[in-house]
Amino acid sequence: MDQDALKRAAAHAALDYIPDDAVVGVGTGSTVNFFIDALATRKHRLAGAVSSSEVSTTRLKAAGIPVFDLNGIQELPVYIDGADEITSGLAMIKGGGGALTREKIVAAVAEKFICIADQKKLVPLLGRFPLPMEVIPMARSYVAREIVKLGGQPVLREGYTTDNGNLILDIHNLQILNPIDLETRLSAITGVVMCGLFARRPADILILATTDGIKISQH
Ligand code: 5RP
Repeated sequence: MDQDALKRAAAHAALDYIPDDAVVGVGTGSTVNFFIDALATRKHRLAGAVSSSEVSTTRLKAAGIPVFDLNGIQELPVYIDGADEITSGLAMIKGGGGALTREKIVAAVAEKFICIADQKKLVPLLGRFPLPMEVIPMARSYVAREIVKLGGQPVLREGYTTDNGNLILDIHNLQILNPIDLETRLSAITGVVMCGLFARRPADILILATTDGIKISQH
């Protein structure tokens, strides 16, 4: 089974977790694109969605799924999103698609964060995938220097601007032995909008598609 088939399988399995008539939080990325396609097949049983990016909003609307402003939403039972890396403890690196800030905001509001991933995303230790950080443009160099002090090697994502008008620094060579502590330290650097470590609020459920079938882990 190729990686796309596994992504599609994880995305389809997530449909079992969507309550009828609910507003569902929708993340960003190629795995989520499969989820949006699957969601479209049962849109008559949905109130609508809140979205973590302009790209997902466009895809949701094209599928005929209403997209709401998060500020008008009181309850969000589930948020479905992918990850770049995830551990057995359900801490993640996210932001490969640059949408980490809105993703973390929607995740904060949601009762349950359900991560959909293929088996390649499950890692014993986070950090092989460069950690994305969204930064205010004028703080780029200062933030980069502070990250170097913490042992990381920041690389500017060239020619890329986030949906919020900011920049992404991808941090290489980080040894992420304590993801909660590192998330706290990186988030505290002035000029950082959001850090792509999702450890303080990890996923609640992982739907992992493997060549041996779907495996579910709960936090
Ligand atoms: C986007 C993300 C995605 O969830 C992450 O990059 C995984 O993407 P894909 O499903 O394409 O592998 O955090 O900002």
